[in-house]
Amino acid sequence: MKTFRRLALVLVLLLYVKPVVSSSRHRQYYRKLSSGDGNDEDLVTNLPGQPHADFKHFAGYVTVNETNGRALFYWFYEAITTPQDKPLVLWLNGGPGCSSVGYGATQEIGPFLVDSNGQGLKYNNFSWNREANVLFVESPIGVGFSYSNTTTDYEHIGDDFTANDAYNFLHKWFLKFPSYRTRTFYIAGESYAGKYVPELAELIVDSNKDPSLHIDLKGILLGNPETSDAEDWRGIVDYAWSHAVISDETYVTIRESCDFKSSDPWKNQTCCDSVDEVFSQYGKIDIYSIYTSVCFASTARSNIDQSQSLQGRRVMKYKRSSKMMPRIMGGYDPCLDDYARAFYNRPDVQKALHASDGHSLKNWSICNDKMFNDWGDSKPSMIPIYKKLISAGLRIWVYSGDTDGRVPVLSTRYSLSTLNLRITKPWRPWYHENEVSGWFQEYEGLTFATFRGAGHAVPCFKPSNSLALFSSFLVGQSPPSTK
Ligand SMILES: *[C@@H]1O[C@H](CO)[C@@H](O)[C@H](O)[C@H]1NC(C)=O
Ligand SMILES: *[C@@H]1O[C@H](CO)[C@@H](O)[C@H](O)[C@H]1NC(C)=O
Ligand SMILES: *[C@@H]1O[C@H](CO)[C@@H](O)[C@H](O)[C@H]1NC(C)=O
Ligand SMILES: *[C@@H]1O[C@H](CO)[C@@H](O)[C@H](O)[C@H]1NC(C)=O
Ligand SMILES: *[C@@H]1O[C@H](CO)[C@@H](O)[C@H](O)[C@H]1NC(C)=O
Repeated sequence: MKTFRRLALVLVLLLYVKPVVSSSRHRQYYRKLSSGDGNDEDLVTNLPGQPHADFKHFAGYVTVNETNGRALFYWFYEAITTPQDKPLVLWLNGGPGCSSVGYGATQEIGPFLVDSNGQGLKYNNFSWNREANVLFVESPIGVGFSYSNTTTDYEHIGDDFTANDAYNFLHKWFLKFPSYRTRTFYIAGESYAGKYVPELAELIVDSNKDPSLHIDLKGILLGNPETSDAEDWRGIVDYAWSHAVISDETYVTIRESCDFKSSDPWKNQTCCDSVDEVFSQYGKIDIYSIYTSVCFASTARSNIDQSQSLQGRRVMKYKRSSKMMPRIMGGYDPCLDDYARAFYNRPDVQKALHASDGHSLKNWSICNDKMFNDWGDSKPSMIPIYKKLISAGLRIWVYSGDTDGRVPVLSTRYSLSTLNLRITKPWRPWYHENEVSGWFQEYEGLTFATFRGAGHAVPCFKPSNSLALFSSFLVGQSPPSTK
């Protein structure tokens, strides 16, 4: 960390000493940087199948650790109009081990969504780059196109490693895009990014004590986020029972044998067996969207884990070990996943995105299963970090699609209730296009909103509503509570 700070300090000094340093090297350096927003090398100009766009987008690598040769892949979309006046938003997906390019950018909130014909992309009229400049990063190394040249790096991956490299990424990325260095900044994410986002925000808040490292982070936005393992587990079980996925008997057994607050609830075999029963039932439907049909396609992904879905192709990954809380892969649609895999493994696509030269191809996959299984440190609760971020004055909005069984709305409510925040505006509906889009409640320091009838990856289900809530978040105003 110390070494890193020194390095980052040097980088930032390079940025800030500009006016007083007159060496030709620095003049050259800054002439290059001031030639526009972004870096010509990374400008994407000929992405196969791309719909017409009136904004610029950039993709490529940022080296986050030179010694070991670690580089993270990003894809950055300028806002459609007046990018210079709009904030910068970093979006992260979870897993852990899943790609923000494959999910966030091309299945959820980006301007170009993977088309089910597998050949190209289609325009998303509800892209979040209507409201902001949006940056997607494949994090950590081993996800998507991101890599390390030092194989032993992969043995150290966990929450802390991820946050440190992501923080390093930001400072290095600002060198490529200097006009964003002082821009209003937000971090958004979903699912396991419920841990990545607060952890990165905390690192930024701590590092901001050094003015030369200051990043203008104003808030975080979290969708169906993993927040506090004990509360999340209780919510999964209560939600499964209250939505008629499991029997009264299974529910009672779990209530009696599982102590989710203990350091190792899984040492009780009865608890393990009855929680397995929850996932066995969820395996028959789509845990990430309990009222929609499962995706049946011809090729099944196999080799996943003991309790992957039994029918259909929406694969549920779930892991339990004696050491840590079981984790379940953040949920997504494997039908679209296959189209994304085909698209991002095309030589012409990799070349256009500066992910490879188009000859020595990178093997892109949407989630790294090995990383998911081998994940190191995972902080059991984000609640202490929430408290810290609230007292640092950050805007924190949490939303929840209320038909998700994976990180259900109950998990989020149980987690947030442990914060004991004062309610400033009581529970009430919020509207979009004359309909109740969900409910929300405002607390001192935090806003919580639901999406009625949306699954785990909310923007997939409610693109227009999601964009509306995102806009409200950015301006810091409550979503409309009347028609
Ligand atoms: C690069 O990564 C290695 C291993 O994670 C770490 O020990 C080293 O301090 C890092 N170097 C810098 C400059 O951050
Ligand atoms: C990783 O190694 C390759 C091959 O030597 C090199 O081209 C690349 O720049 C290295 N990546 C980083 C981040 O150092
Ligand atoms: C896209 O959104 C704009 C602005 O909301 C709207 O005017 C336009 O009709 C939409 N286009 C399509 C194809 O839905
Ligand atoms: C599991 O919990 C139940 C209920 O508290 C208890 O009766 C049982 O003995 C426990 N089993 C083990 C193996 O600890
Ligand atoms: C690419 O990665 C996938 C998943 O990790 C693996 O199954 C496949 O064998 C790899 N393909 C190549 C050509 O390395």
